[in-house]
Order: sequence, then structure tokens, then C-alpha cells
Amino acid sequence: MAKTRYLTGITTTGTPHLGNYVGAIRPAILASKDPNIESFYFLADYHGLIKCHDPKQIRQSSLEVAATWLALGLDTENSVFYRQSDVPEILELTWILTCMTAKGLMNRSHAYKAAVQENVQNASKDPDKGVTMGLFSYPILMAADILMFSGEKIPVGKDQIQHVEMARDIAQRFNHHFGDILTLPEVLVDENVAVLNGLDGRKMSKSYGNTIPLFDTEKKLQKLINKIKTNLLEPGEPKNPDDATVFHLWTAFASPEQIAYMKEQFAQGIAWGQMKKELFQLINDQLKDARVRYMELMVNPDHIEKVLKDGAEKARDSSQALLKQVKAAVGIVPSFCD
Ligand code: TRP
Repeated sequence: MAKTRYLTGITTTGTPHLGNYVGAIRPAILASKDPNIESFYFLADYHGLIKCHDPKQIRQSSLEVAATWLALGLDTENSVFYRQSDVPEILELTWILTCMTAKGLMNRSHAYKAAVQENVQNASKDPDKGVTMGLFSYPILMAADILMFSGEKIPVGKDQIQHVEMARDIAQRFNHHFGDILTLPEVLVDENVAVLNGLDGRKMSKSYGNTIPLFDTEKKLQKLINKIKTNLLEPGEPKNPDDATVFHLWTAFASPEQIAYMKEQFAQGIAWGQMKKELFQLINDQLKDARVRYMELMVNPDHIEKVLKDGAEKARDSSQALLKQVKAAVGIVPSFCD
């Protein structure tokens, strides 16, 4: 049976946190072990440039993201793990697709519309203030990421659904005009995957400053877990697990038995301090071996570099072949004499 090709990108602008782990990394690594799935995972470093113009941060984040995925056990024999910027064909395809994409489609992109709305709210004279062409046309780069490798299922968070649909629209338009060359991707949103809440109870996100880094020291993990917002109920007073951020985090890491156990503890009035101690242990047990590997990888970037270069080589087998087909279809030929 032919394998289904999963493809997803990780923007390299921050340090991976528990929310990234639960929402994206953990399910992706699990999928990469499924014999019916062929996975393409990449560091979307050109996407990083859209919002981040600090070269040190782009470089550091790429390194941290790569080390994180490898430390957590991504099987790079059975998946293709690469850095977007190591595959120049993606940018060539981006231009070709740009010429097939209606500007009106980009006008409808949520990311662009949100930026415009903010300007309007702030009574700015220019609704496009601060909007680069990178931000405006970024769904096209994302479409190229996907279509370059004939990605079939694209696992993403809800905020990215529109972009995958746009990739599909762009592919359809291309195929209609030039023949059936591009594979139409489908979005994959796993309803069972938890969206993790952060220290303040809102969705864990870099932009809220409420994250818990995945691989800081054990001490720091404990410290941050102790900072999670709770209420004023005393030890011995029954507590409602459903509105407790600490319980929400518990469920993202616990087995069904452990969840039942903790519910019972809440009913019996477990102290917040004790709950946090158990939560730390639960999470730390699942991360501690990977943390050691992460630290080792971070001081050995040569190894990471080699893995990424090998990945890019595998990826380019596909991208070079497809780009050749695409270029021929649009009339960009390597030589007039062939
Ligand atoms: N834009 C995505 C995000 O912010 C990351 C990404 C880039 C991506 N290229 C992709 C995801 C291709 C899926 C497929 O999360």
C-alpha cells in the first residue's frame, strides 16, 4: 500500500515550549513512526524572517528547534527532516506560484487582515502600515512548501487551516492551466490534540509571554509550574478540576488512570502546592531523558547540521524532479536547443 505523505513546517522564531510539544511535536513524532505514513518535517526558517529580523534569534531558534525534535526521538531514517533554506527549489516554485495567485486571495488572508485591522483601530493613516510583502504573500511561500513535496495531509493548528486551503486553491488553479502536476493537499486538524494553556490560563503562546520552555533546567521547570495561576482555596477544600489550569496541564501528560486519580485528589481537596509537585514529577519524568539528549545536541551543532544536510539531500531528490516538471510546464526550459 502506498504511504500517505504528511508534511508540516515549524517556524523558527522562538524556543520550543510545552504547548508546541503537546500540540505539534508529540503527535508529529508519533506519526513518523507509523509505517503507513511518510513524513516530511522542516524548519521553516524563511517563514521566520516574516516576523523576526534578528539574525541571532533566527539562527538560535533553528538550532533549538532541530535539537528539540531530534532529542524527542524523531526517526530521521523513516522521515525527511530538513531546513527550508537548504532547498532552494522551494523559492523558485514560490515565484511561479506567485504569478498564478490572485492578489484578492491574499487580501483575504487572516494574518494580513489582522494587521490591517490593527492599523484601522489605531487610527493609522496607512492601513498597510508595517505590512511587508513577506507577510502579505506568505501563504504563497507556505503553498510552495507543501506543493513542492506533494504533501497529502498537512497537520496544523486551527490558525493555519486557511493557509492550507489557499495552497489547495493555488494548486487547483495551476493544474487547471498547466495540467495535472501538483497534488492537492488536505488539512489535518486533530481534535484530540490538546491546546495547552499557559501560566495565566490563556492558550500557551509566545505572544502572551506565558510559556513553559520544554528543555530549560529541571529547577526552572519546577519554578514555572509553581507559578501557574490557581485560586485561593485552602488544602482540604474540594476543588473543581475543570477550571484549574494545573489540572488541564495534567490531562495533557497523564494516562486515563492518572487523570481519574487526580480528579479524586481534587474532590478530596488536594493542596495546590502538592498538586504542583505531582504535576512537575509527571512532566519531568516524560522529559528528563530527552532533556539530557537536548543538552548534548546543543553543544554538538555539527551533528545537527549533518542530519539536516542529509535530510535536505533526500528532500531535493523530490523537489528537483518536481520543479523540472513545473518549469517545463510553464515554458521555462533549461536550454532552447533541447
Ligand atoms: N506557517 C506555519 C505556522 O506558522 C508553519 C509552516 C510553514 C507550515 N510552512 C508550512 C505548516 C507548510 C504546514 C505546511 O505554524
